[in-house]
Amino acid sequence: MPIRRTCPFDPSPELAGLRTARPVARAVMPLDGSEVWLVTGHDLVRRMLADPRWSSSVDGGLGEDRPLRLKQPEPGMFIEMDGPEHARYRRMLIPHFTVQRTNRLRPRIEQIVAERLDAMERLPRPVDLVAEFALPVPSLVICELLGMPYEERAGFQEAARALVRLDSPAGETEAALDRLAGHLAKLIAAKRAEPDGALIGELVREGVLTDGELVQISMLLLVAGHETTANMLGLGTLLLLRHPDQLALVRQGAPGAADELLRYLSIIDAVMFRGAKEDLTLGGQRIRAGEFGLASLGAANRDPALCEDPDRLDVTRPRTAHVALGFGPHQCLGQNLARLELEVALQALLRRFPGLRAAVPLEEVSIREDAAIHGVDSLPVTW
Ligand code: HEM
Repeated sequence: MPIRRTCPFDPSPELAGLRTARPVARAVMPLDGSEVWLVTGHDLVRRMLADPRWSSSVDGGLGEDRPLRLKQPEPGMFIEMDGPEHARYRRMLIPHFTVQRTNRLRPRIEQIVAERLDAMERLPRPVDLVAEFALPVPSLVICELLGMPYEERAGFQEAARALVRLDSPAGETEAALDRLAGHLAKLIAAKRAEPDGALIGELVREGVLTDGELVQISMLLLVAGHETTANMLGLGTLLLLRHPDQLALVRQGAPGAADELLRYLSIIDAVMFRGAKEDLTLGGQRIRAGEFGLASLGAANRDPALCEDPDRLDVTRPRTAHVALGFGPHQCLGQNLARLELEVALQALLRRFPGLRAAVPLEEVSIREDAAIHGVDSLPVTW
C-alpha cells in the first residue's frame, strides 16, 4: 500500500487481481510498516462497513510516530465513533441533510455556480478549472450551509489539504487542524451571541451540544464537505472531456450521471481504516481482535458482481449499489448535497461552455498522487 493508480480514472489493476484471487488480503502500510487486511470485493466491503465488530475509532497509518491504533475520538468527531455514541450525533444532523432540506439549497447553489461561471468567462484563457470553479463552488456551498463567512475559507482549505495528503510532514496536519479549531471556536462564540438560521446557528439554538462538540462537528462537515466534491468536479470534468458522448448526455441532464461518476472515479479509494474489536471471519479469513482493515471502495465499485461491464463509464446506467459514498452507519451524511452539487455544477458548466476542452494534454495535467482523495491539482481549460 498504497496501490497507486496507473490511470487517474481507474483503481489500480492490481486491485482487480486481488479481488479475484484474494478479496481479503494482507497488505503492508508503507509509512509505518503495519499490516492491514485489504478488502476488495463489493459484497465483502459492504459486509465489513456494516459490521459493528469493526470500529471506526482508528488513528494513524501515517508514519513511524503514528502507527495504526484504536483511539478515543474527540467529542463531536462522529466519523470516528461507533454504536450509540455515533448514532446520537448522526440523529441530530440527519434532519439537516435530507433530500427535502438539501433541495431548499438548490436555488442558492445554482446562483453560486452561475456567479463562478460569470467570473470564469471574464478571465483570460486558459483558466484553471480547479481554482476558479471546482474548489470555490463546494467551499461556498458548505460555508452557506454552516453559516460561515467565505472569507475564512483559507483556514479550512489548508486543513483539508493537509488532512488528505499522505505525506504531510509530522505535525503539519495537527497544526492546520488546531488553527482551524481556533477559527471555529470564535465563530461558534459569535453564533452563541447571535444565532442565525444556518446549521451551526440552529445547533447552537438547540442547546444540546458543547462548544467543543460544535467545533469538531463543524470541522468535520467543512473538511468532508468540500474537498471531496471539489475533486469530483475537477476529475469528473477531465473524465467527461475524454468521453464526449457521455459529456453530451450529462449536458442534456442525464439523471443518474452524478452516481455513475462517483462509482466510476471512486475518488476515495482505500482510506477507510477499521479496527477489529473482536475475533471475526470475513470472506473465510480469520481476523483477530486488534487487527486493522481497509476497505477498497475503488475495487468494490469495479466489481463485475456490482453491475454489467463495470469498467465502462455509462451515465445512463440504472442506479447501482456503489459504495463511493461508503456504506453502513457511516454512509456519507452529505450524499444528497454531493449529488445536487455535482448535478447542478456539471450541467451548468457544460451548458455555459459548449466548446469546453482541456488546454493541455492529459500527460501534463497535474494529477494528485500524494493524497487520500484522488483528483487534479489544477486543470487548465479553454472554450
Ligand atoms: C462527492 C463527494 C463526496 C464523497 C465521495 C464522499 C464520501 C464519503 C464516504 C466514503 C464516507 C464514509 C466514511 C467512512 O465510512 O469512514 C463519507 C462520510 C461522511 N461524509 Fe461524505 N462524501 C462526499 C461529500 C460530502 C459532503 C458534501 C458532505 C457535507 C457536508 C459530506 C459529509 C460527510 C460526513 C459528515 C461523513 C461522516 C458520516 C458518519 O460518520 O456518520 N460528504 N463521505
